[in-house]
Amino acid sequence: MEQKRSGFTGKLGFVLAAAGSAVGLGNIWRFPYLAAKYGGGMFLLVYIILAVTFGFALMVAEIAIGRKTQLSAISAFSKLNKKFSFLGYVASIVPVIILPYYSVIGGWVTKYLAAFCSGQTAQAAQDDYFGNFISSTGEPILYFAIFLGLTALVVLFGVEKGIEKVSKFMMPVLVVLSVGIAIYSACLPGALDGVVYYIKPDFSKFSITTVVAAMGQLFYSMSLAMGIMITYGSYMKKDVSIESSTRQISLFDTGIAFFAGLMIIPAVFSFSGGDESALGQGPGLMFVTLPKVFNSMAGGNIIGAVFFLLVLLAALTSSISLMETIVSIFIDKFKIKRIPACLAVLAVSVALGLVSTLGYGIWSEVKIIGMQFLDFFDFISNSVIMPIVALITCIVVGYVIKPKAIIEEVETGNVKFKAKKLFVVMIKYIAPICILVILASSVLGAFGVISI
Ligand code: PFF
Repeated sequence: MEQKRSGFTGKLGFVLAAAGSAVGLGNIWRFPYLAAKYGGGMFLLVYIILAVTFGFALMVAEIAIGRKTQLSAISAFSKLNKKFSFLGYVASIVPVIILPYYSVIGGWVTKYLAAFCSGQTAQAAQDDYFGNFISSTGEPILYFAIFLGLTALVVLFGVEKGIEKVSKFMMPVLVVLSVGIAIYSACLPGALDGVVYYIKPDFSKFSITTVVAAMGQLFYSMSLAMGIMITYGSYMKKDVSIESSTRQISLFDTGIAFFAGLMIIPAVFSFSGGDESALGQGPGLMFVTLPKVFNSMAGGNIIGAVFFLLVLLAALTSSISLMETIVSIFIDKFKIKRIPACLAVLAVSVALGLVSTLGYGIWSEVKIIGMQFLDFFDFISNSVIMPIVALITCIVVGYVIKPKAIIEEVETGNVKFKAKKLFVVMIKYIAPICILVILASSVLGAFGVISI
């Protein structure tokens, strides 16, 4: 892989490929339930501030590291400084943890697609439909297997390019559809309170938990702190602007998340009759709320089916990029062939995915530090390992190779780095301090040492 890097043809190719990895369940499933749970407008505000400051700095740094070293994460850090070789390995653990539970949620999307295609819109809109589904044993496993199987097939046969072509065409349709559904949702009776809740920051809702959740979400959604953007950067041409590509990817990613929130949160208000406890549902929020929206609209079963199909495609492009990352590490590092590498990744994912699925069903009594398995995997990757990777990346860039090395890469070919000052201040001071505080509070909070 290191010898012949094929490279993206131009800026558009790069931005679309990176956005294909970035836009997925994180935007449509994860963002709305976090925003609903952690203070609506306050969460949105914190998220946007983090995205334009340290999300921006970190993404620039990762892409530049990739393009400078022409290597993927594992080897890139050791090329920068031998002492930091371990960081590439730590970053690579993240996709291994995420892929299995990502596939479980992908399975839920597949189930809803099947339900809408078979005309079960009214049933899917019932209150107990989702709960009955995830607490059963066979069905969630079946759909998880379908989703993971599809992902594995694509990676096994190396036909990502085909999928990406389809998704590039589908992505704009997803945007248009989301905006349309968001407008519809916002106009439902009683939904206006939800729009206000989602858009207007209520400063009394600010807490360290809001920041912890927003930061984890930022890493997850933009595929940061797990080596992915380093790999993408390594394929980027030298004459493409890293700075403006980063801005476009984050704008696109945040835009989709924003509209997903607008599709779901006002609808929660409308269907719960203003009962705010419905906001705290967590991972099930989208699956419980959207069918009600579709059920209430004319032609809702068709719109619902198209919507879940598009979400499935967006989820697949992301899961494919997750699996491809792990497989290529296996191939490069353990010198094994593609098929055994895929099978090994598949075996690990099946095992961890089964645990996550059953954790909502027959094992729902089993908890790790008070969390179900799926939530635990989500927590350990987003709130622990990713912040650690991000923190050490800031230290490497800020104090070991120095920001100048990144700035030079960004300015290759006479491109001006407009936000240079912001970048340096973020990477050297603000980001590491914030991450440290956040990391400490989320870990101490999880173990009940402090209450956050
Ligand atoms: N960024 C993706 C999302 O928001 O759904 C998740 C993800 C995909 C993370 C691919 C990492 C990755 F390699």
